[in-house]
Amino acid sequence: MQHSQTQNSAPTIFVIFGITGDLAGRKLLPALLNLYVKKVLPQKFAIVGFSRRNFTREEFRQYIRDNINIKPGQFKEEDVKHFLDHMSYEQGLFDTPESYHRLAEKLQSIDESFKQCSNKLFHLSVPPTLYEGILENLSSSGLTIPCGGDLGWTRVLIEKPFGNDIETAKKLDKRIGDLFSEEQIFRIDHYLAKEALQNVLAFRFANTLFEPLWNRHHVDKVHIKLLEKIDIEDRGEFYDKVGALKDVGQNHVLQMLALVAMESPEEFDAEHIRKERAKVLKHLMPITSKNINDLAVRGQYEGYLHEKGVRPESQTETYFRLETYIENARWKDVPFFLESGKALSESKAEIDIYFKNENEEERQNILTFRIQPDEGIKIRFWVKTPGFGLQVEPKTLKFKYSDFDSLSTLPDAYEKVLFDAFVGDQTLFTSTDEVVHAWKFISPIVELWNHVPMTRYKKGSSYVY
Ligand code: BG6
Repeated sequence: MQHSQTQNSAPTIFVIFGITGDLAGRKLLPALLNLYVKKVLPQKFAIVGFSRRNFTREEFRQYIRDNINIKPGQFKEEDVKHFLDHMSYEQGLFDTPESYHRLAEKLQSIDESFKQCSNKLFHLSVPPTLYEGILENLSSSGLTIPCGGDLGWTRVLIEKPFGNDIETAKKLDKRIGDLFSEEQIFRIDHYLAKEALQNVLAFRFANTLFEPLWNRHHVDKVHIKLLEKIDIEDRGEFYDKVGALKDVGQNHVLQMLALVAMESPEEFDAEHIRKERAKVLKHLMPITSKNINDLAVRGQYEGYLHEKGVRPESQTETYFRLETYIENARWKDVPFFLESGKALSESKAEIDIYFKNENEEERQNILTFRIQPDEGIKIRFWVKTPGFGLQVEPKTLKFKYSDFDSLSTLPDAYEKVLFDAFVGDQTLFTSTDEVVHAWKFISPIVELWNHVPMTRYKKGSSYVY
């Protein structure tokens, strides 16, 4: 897999719609600050925050300082100060064309100070209901038109959830497709940018040891988990409308599945990798009213109904487990278990591949990709217990990212996402086809959820199903 590591040197303006929202403070700004400190941002760059609130310049700076999710002492004060010098604010309403004209003037004045037409990245850090309005205003105000010949590309970054079901996703996609070309659209699924998940492909295709075994003849089952200790925190209002399956199943978990199961791409570039990921999602066996009871489990943690923003009778799931099958020659009849939940005993994202052992079923080799925390790879294998007998027992071969000498911490997924958006590499962003196929699989399950009894589980459970 080849990613450009070169600094994107052309002047660039990063516009964040919804700068006062949770995502900007928690993920985007720390990632941008890190990129700035690592000196991979263009020398001439600016961040423009756009939101409804009124701020003076000083109030805005203070607001960012108070809300940027960094630890005291994590960065030199001088770096933070210089980073803030690159930021400015534009007050506006998301649905008012006038606001976009003012934004355009602001961007133009920044271009003038750069003495060059700059690239523009527009990040939609707002609730999905606002996407369409913002995109339309961006397009009609001319803000997304490059300003000079080859210079000054424009790109839009959109967060998940991309639509709410197959219909809304298609409608949104059509709308976006009318306004922008596919090269301009960057649909974020931050799991794709997790270092240890990217390694799944590298590991598969760089090591000839496993590839011959990567199929239905040798793999017994695959278990993909995204378990979280945290509950829904203060996101009740959002979460109750969404539920675990749409929040992380439709995107993060299915993307983990796609990376494990995809065929080797013709080339290791965005176009071919995205095509292969989409093909896996396209071939998922549909879950229907006939099989849903055998293949799906849903759960809700006790106390969920008392969370702020949650409807008292809510049937929203905070846990799911699906048994899925990929209908192609490589994977036919191999179960892929997809599991995710909130308020569980531990937080971990992991992929376990169980290899068949026809003679001794319980004595399987297991290959584990740990996506987080303690990122790494483990192989369970069997060794003879020392002594006179011929018993064997399981042992583990381990690789941990923390063993890399040069590495204090892995780059955050958002750093990678934003860096790739700067350099225009779409590999780690989802394509239209992936989004549509993922919804085609998930939407019918959501519609049939009430066929599946709700399992109640205690907060902190280690086992729901
Ligand atoms: C988000 C979901 O997309 O992913 C959250 O909306 C979830 O509910 C989060 O907690 C998990 O991401 P990470 O990177 O913290 O594992």
